[in-house]
Amino acid sequence: MTELHANLTSLAYLVAAVLFIMALRGLSSPETSRTGNICGMLGMLIAVVTTVFSPEVQSYGWIIAALILGAVIGITIAKRIAMTAMPQLVAAFHSLVGMAAVLVAGAAFTNPGAFGLVGPAGDIFVASRIEMALGAVIGAITFSGSIIAFTKLQGLVSGAPVSFGGQHYLNALFGLVILGLLVYFCIDQQPWIFWSMTALAFIIGVLIIIPIGGADMPVVVSMLNSYSGWAAAGIGFTLKNDALIVTGALVGSSGAILSYIMCKGMNRSFFSVILGGFGGDTSAGPAGAADDRPVKQGSAEDAAFIMKNAGSVIIIPGYGMAVAQAQHALREMCDELKQAGVTVKYAIHPVAGRMPGHMNVLLAEANVPYDEVFELEDINSEFQTTDVAFVIGANDVTNPSAKSDPASPIYGMPILDVEKAKTVLFVKRGMSPGYAGVQNELFYRDNTMMLFGDAKKMVETILRNLD
Ligand code: TAP
Repeated sequence: MTELHANLTSLAYLVAAVLFIMALRGLSSPETSRTGNICGMLGMLIAVVTTVFSPEVQSYGWIIAALILGAVIGITIAKRIAMTAMPQLVAAFHSLVGMAAVLVAGAAFTNPGAFGLVGPAGDIFVASRIEMALGAVIGAITFSGSIIAFTKLQGLVSGAPVSFGGQHYLNALFGLVILGLLVYFCIDQQPWIFWSMTALAFIIGVLIIIPIGGADMPVVVSMLNSYSGWAAAGIGFTLKNDALIVTGALVGSSGAILSYIMCKGMNRSFFSVILGGFGGDTSAGPAGAADDRPVKQGSAEDAAFIMKNAGSVIIIPGYGMAVAQAQHALREMCDELKQAGVTVKYAIHPVAGRMPGHMNVLLAEANVPYDEVFELEDINSEFQTTDVAFVIGANDVTNPSAKSDPASPIYGMPILDVEKAKTVLFVKRGMSPGYAGVQNELFYRDNTMMLFGDAKKMVETILRNLD
């Protein structure tokens, strides 16, 4: 590579890295998220074009075929995927990053000369051994962990935690053996060490994720996001590609920060998530089946009457609103209420729906003003002075068993204190529990009225009855 070309490449990668940082910054708020996305896409375009036109590329056949195939698959998936299936899609994509890291590390190990990783004595540089070992190990953990997360989130296997006696000790043992092999690999570059270490990493990826279940899965997805970033950074070192190192580090650290925020949102310990198995003692949760106690059932007319005559209404959207795509009708209903002089606010739980920011995205799509949308900690104290809590397709995030029942899988997770409102209206189709499989005590309370039906249809009928 000529000096000029090398400088231009570095400059282009620097611009791409700055655009990725701007993308992360933009994605931190719904108002700037579109600009953030555009910055991310532009950065990726610059990184791909710069890499493809680098002088090290000797033939374009495979690259062009892979680009076309990848673009067709990407566009098809993006067009077809339902918003509610996003977490499993993200998990599936993380598995690809993990496998890419393993394959690059494997290729570099089997043919180190082609990657310029061989010293004068014919051995692979020790630094390169560390990089490829880390890339392979983190990549393998990311791959198998993401596959398990995908199968759980997609419902292909039960989402319940799988635990057995001595699980943490076994994980610790595997971790220590992998660490020992990694050190040994730096001393002696025998193929059996490299491949045993990688195989054990595939196994530990499974072991880390199987004990996690139910409501804790969102943290797992963001944690695997972080792992996939570190795996990419690892192969960036092997390939001596600055853009990959920077991008991997950005993904790794932003994923770790997101995991930390979500752990805080769910009141879980960050380190027990990173090390795996934090959902291990959640299997004793109460059964999800509804019991025989009567519930107070209301109609759309009742709901319209109650809300029209209220001074304040807080809307609590959840996964069911996303399934029913009820956000537009909901916004129209709220507009109508506001015209009638009712104060309307929206309360967002950090893990409502099935992905971080899920509710914010849907409300933004329906043009709900941002200043009416509040995070849990900013609005929770207001329920006690609110007339109506209108819970639309949310369940776990309102369930008081998180505060009162140590055996509950969601015990410790902060919840929206909807039960403190004068009246709680629950829009859902039946008595099914939420994602965590826990029955919600609130359905049976005196100040609760159940509005059974599809969220969109129910809101549209309420809207008609508000006139
Ligand atoms: P959930 O607890 O999952 O409850 C959703 C409720 O919506 C269900 O009880 C369901 O009851 C109802 N529903 C489904 N389709 C509906 C429709 N068409 N119309 C009306 N209601 C409908 O939701 P949540 O309160 O938002 O809590 C989220 C849960 O998912 C948490 O446990 C969280 O940990 C977990 N999770 C979150 C994420 C992220 S990152 N946000 C990712 C994975 C998992 P019916 O069937 O009776 O209608």
